[in-house]
Amino acid sequence: MSLLIEGGHVLVEGRLLRENVFIDKGKIQQITPQRPNADQEINAKGKIVLPGLIDCHVHCREPGLTHKEDFYTASMAAAAGGVTTFFDMPNTHPPTFDIEDLEAKREMAKKSLVNYGFYFGASSNNIEQIKKARNIAAVKIYMNETTGNLLLENDTIIEEIFKHAPRIAVHAEGEQIRKAIHLAKKYKKFLYLCHISSKDEIALIKKEKTENIFCEVAPHHLFLTDSDHKKMKGLAYMKPVLKSKKDQNALWKGIEDNTVDTIGTDHAPHTLMEKKSNSPPAGVPGLETMLPLLLNAVNEKKLTLQKLSELTAANPARIFGIKNKGIIKEGYDADVVVVDLNKEYKISNDALFTKCKWSPFHGKKVKGAVDFTIVNGNLIYHHREFERIRAREVVFSG
Ligand code: NCD
Ligand code: ZN
Repeated sequence: MSLLIEGGHVLVEGRLLRENVFIDKGKIQQITPQRPNADQEINAKGKIVLPGLIDCHVHCREPGLTHKEDFYTASMAAAAGGVTTFFDMPNTHPPTFDIEDLEAKREMAKKSLVNYGFYFGASSNNIEQIKKARNIAAVKIYMNETTGNLLLENDTIIEEIFKHAPRIAVHAEGEQIRKAIHLAKKYKKFLYLCHISSKDEIALIKKEKTENIFCEVAPHHLFLTDSDHKKMKGLAYMKPVLKSKKDQNALWKGIEDNTVDTIGTDHAPHTLMEKKSNSPPAGVPGLETMLPLLLNAVNEKKLTLQKLSELTAANPARIFGIKNKGIIKEGYDADVVVVDLNKEYKISNDALFTKCKWSPFHGKKVKGAVDFTIVNGNLIYHHREFERIRAREVVFSG
């Protein structure tokens, strides 16, 4: 089925152009002032057409933790948030430590409405499995304590993984970041530093960065601080924890000076009951609030649309070697989101599609909303309605 996105302003090579986008056979066929005949038309007058977001950091919670989320509900939240591809994290039950677990996940993820990729987990004894894993985003090493039992503290084992895994992503905070960077340089490896949250860390990364080392920040660290943690308690508790205003400013500065490469949600849903308990688990959902919050930041002149799109689409595709995604270009995959930069609304728990049904941003007013989400050329989300069309696993190259 062909599709015409008509009358919008389309982000092409960093500029907003008044063009129509003609989509057929899953691809962007033409960016044109003409109006080719299409089976379906989307009126995008007054709207902005962006490449669909690629979220490099999502906990879909399947298998084993599906009372919090599963691939289907995570993908609904993603689609409602303009995210057309996500990479799933390995701290499930069981964790993704061997090929069998990975293959099982591949089956489970088939119900996803958005495209997906997987991280592989590193344990103290799965190096042979790591060597065999194919088409993964990276091997994730937990160098600090967090949800799940995935912490690796043995330096010899960590070094062994850096030696053998082609690409490594780390949950590393403070001094652990220095260690990870040292090992990445020693073995000339791709290193993706997840959810960097403090001023000192940004300063260290700015100094030590190479073309193989990448830095992610999460929306909760950009839009919340430790004072929100004090107010919201468990509901604003995640790893790394929320930091000061000074740290937050450093993250924004890091975005400006290109120390930061990506914004990834670290969508880590837990139920409200779990979060309101005496010992709440770390993590907050973020898939459907990231883009509205960032569009609101564009309206507040904290960010340009071009930069937003680089951090959430073009850079993830380039860094992880996903061909034909991340920008709007003829011949590229038709993963597209149409947004309304002028629509104002209040983020509300009731309106969320994540299974956990709450957000630390509940009650926050934003200007900027997702209207239409197109995945592989199919309109799968518009104005709170979904079309149940399955998406597919992405191919990582390099
Ligand atoms: C994550 C989770 O709940 O899976 N929690 C979190 O606070 N970020 C784990 C993680 O990403 O560290
Ligand atoms: Zn995470």
